[in-house]
Amino acid sequence: MTSRLAVLIPGGRGQLGRELARRVGAGRNCLVHAPGSTELDIADPDAVADVVDSFTEAARDAQLRPVVLNAAAYTAVDAAETDRTRAAEVNTGGAAALAEACRACELPLVHVSTDYVFPGDATEPYEPEHTPSPRTVYGRTKLDGERAVLASQARAWVVRTSWVYGGRGGNFVKTMTRLESERETVSVVDDQFGSPTWAADLASGLVELADRATRQQGPQRAVLHCTNSGRASWFELARAVFSELGADPDRVRPCSTADFPRPAPRPAFSALSERAWIEEGCTPMRPWRQALSEAFARDGGALRAR
Ligand SMILES: NC(=O)c1ccc[n+]([C@@H]2O[C@H](COP(=O)([O-])OP(=O)(O)OC[C@H]3O[C@@H](n4cnc5c(N)ncnc54)[C@H](OP(=O)(O)O)[C@@H]3O)[C@@H](O)[C@H]2O)c1
Repeated sequence: MTSRLAVLIPGGRGQLGRELARRVGAGRNCLVHAPGSTELDIADPDAVADVVDSFTEAARDAQLRPVVLNAAAYTAVDAAETDRTRAAEVNTGGAAALAEACRACELPLVHVSTDYVFPGDATEPYEPEHTPSPRTVYGRTKLDGERAVLASQARAWVVRTSWVYGGRGGNFVKTMTRLESERETVSVVDDQFGSPTWAADLASGLVELADRATRQQGPQRAVLHCTNSGRASWFELARAVFSELGADPDRVRPCSTADFPRPAPRPAFSALSERAWIEEGCTPMRPWRQALSEAFARDGGALRAR
């Protein structure tokens, strides 16, 4: 299904970007260009226009179907509270620059966003149509980025995800594997709920969507949610990580958000509904617990690495 695709992946050295490059690279005859932030700063509109333009030309010369899959973002949620200007330049300005370049070159854009656009006071998974109301600078700049993409004339898909982990970069699952080896007990919050998502599964879903995007014609603007299915608290996820490590899950102790104040408040409930993803015709994502087992089976060494 992914053959003959050409995929430009800004943010190609990040946690998701590396999984996307790996996934596209596994397709026969596919072209992947995955620049890191030093090769392509998405906050620089001229650089974005140049890179998208030359990528498009190379892809069309090779008779491949080009698409941009944006994995670049300012993701330091707490730091963004005081580094507002840069967070906005990247998450809002960068998204707008990519959308404009995609419009100019007539390329589809798949843009990744976040559950943090929601306030986190729901009790059932958020649908794409639910009114966003971010409570952090990171969430606000990401929502403004979504709006810039959707307001552009590019053929664009905004895909929100949540609680991403993988073998590369820093994430909760890797932190828990480290703490398991360092401490007898670990306290983890049991009053925040979301959908843990393995970066490799997310990458598969996004590449499937990107492939479909290159086959469709006409205007397109959609907001979709893509996470592993089901929900958990951070406490439940930590216990599952300990189980995967062969450690006693009872060494993980529940605590509350009030015990761990952070500069940027975390949503209490930010699970995302898969309904629109499935209605779009994309393959349903597997349950988060199965994905975690598969992640340890495939990438256990990297998940354990310090
Ligand atoms: N991780 C999660 O739990 C989570 C949850 C929901 C949504 N998301 C979304 O998923 C996407 C991927 O996130 P991730 O988990 O892969 O985060 P990540 O590992 O921090 O990757 C983000 C990448 O973007 C790059 N970047 C930052 N500023 C840039 C710029 N101006 N130009 C180009 N690249 C830039 C970073 O490069 P440097 O390191 O060199 O700065 C980094 O490699 C983001 O849109 C994020 O908002 C993530």
